Amino acid sequence: MDSEFLLDPALCHLNHAAVGPWPRRTVEAVKRFAEENARSGSLRYADWLAVEQRLRERLASLIGAAATDIALIKNTSEGLSLIAQGLDWQPGDSIVGIAQEFPSNRIVWQALAERGVSWRALDLARSSDPEADLIALCDGSTRLIAVSWVQYASGVRLNLARLATWCRAHGVLLCVDAIQGLGALPFALPRYPADFVVADGHKWLLGPEGLGLLYVCPELRPRLRLTQFGWHMVEDAGDFDRTDWQPTADARRFECGSPNLLGAHALEASLSLLTEVGMDEVWRRLQKRTEHLITLLERRGFELLTPKDPERRAGIISFRVPGRSSAELYQGLMRQGVLCAQRGGGLRFSPHFYTPIERIERAVRILDGLLGG
Ligand SMILES: Cc1ncc(COP(=O)(O)O)c(C=O)c1O
Repeated sequence: MDSEFLLDPALCHLNHAAVGPWPRRTVEAVKRFAEENARSGSLRYADWLAVEQRLRERLASLIGAAATDIALIKNTSEGLSLIAQGLDWQPGDSIVGIAQEFPSNRIVWQALAERGVSWRALDLARSSDPEADLIALCDGSTRLIAVSWVQYASGVRLNLARLATWCRAHGVLLCVDAIQGLGALPFALPRYPADFVVADGHKWLLGPEGLGLLYVCPELRPRLRLTQFGWHMVEDAGDFDRTDWQPTADARRFECGSPNLLGAHALEASLSLLTEVGMDEVWRRLQKRTEHLITLLERRGFELLTPKDPERRAGIISFRVPGRSSAELYQGLMRQGVLCAQRGGGLRFSPHFYTPIERIERAVRILDGLLGG
């Protein structure tokens, strides 16, 4: 497995919650695709489409859906926008979310204000039971709960099974931004029956930017008004002489034009690695690393912003050093090769399953050095 990761040993890459590095096989897949393109143009386009189909199948099995339920999209923001703009809102409808959400999972819902739809947000910092508090914010006007599975800044992981069960029982839709969880820990639609799942491939999935997935529950698919149109989303796509058209019944109806085949080759290769290791094993190894990191941070008296409860976190560990500026520490860490982030008023470390334990320990030692230890 070590041979799959080519990271410069001088770097401590603890930034998978931002942009993950590509495994060796992804680098090779992109090189092969580029070579083939340069030498034989689109001669083997059918083979490229076969890779794209494999990608759909891999994404489908990652979330427990069928390949025909997966739309390949540009990014999470596009997926959330397709949902927000496609639902048949009535003036007075409301959406419930979280105040500390990543901007895309707030802005797309706030943009519906012009249609008389309001977005109500839970202050997660004041909640000890987020699912109960989200549910308490719902009333007769609430049509949708829109949350991230794992919060990008605090790393808080929601209990999706609990939310989904309540939503199903009360006729409220559930939209899950899964970008901070998919690839880090197992996901299964049968366990978390969300109506919408959206994610991008460039974080925990170790793929490129510019290619993500949108899952829309099959029963809802025809109810989502389409907002993008083109040759690719119709029945008989490729029959350019045909003048009548209708959208395909499957999730391809959300893909209006030419596919991102370069991205598909890359992401398919990255997912093949996660599949080989297995998501249970990926999660087991990642947990071992985050637990070790928590021990190191607590031993130093740092303030954890991510809950300690293993059920309430995933791969993100955020923390503050009391009395010290996170902005300054972040700059110092980055200068010394610790790739991390400054989020939610603290420092965010996000290792992955393959991160050498030594690299985590070195990052903390570098932090010690910055603190004069
Ligand atoms: C929770 C969450 N949603 C979405 C995104 C990114 O959205 P996109 O895929 O549109 O770039 C991020 C990136 O940090 C995120 O943390």
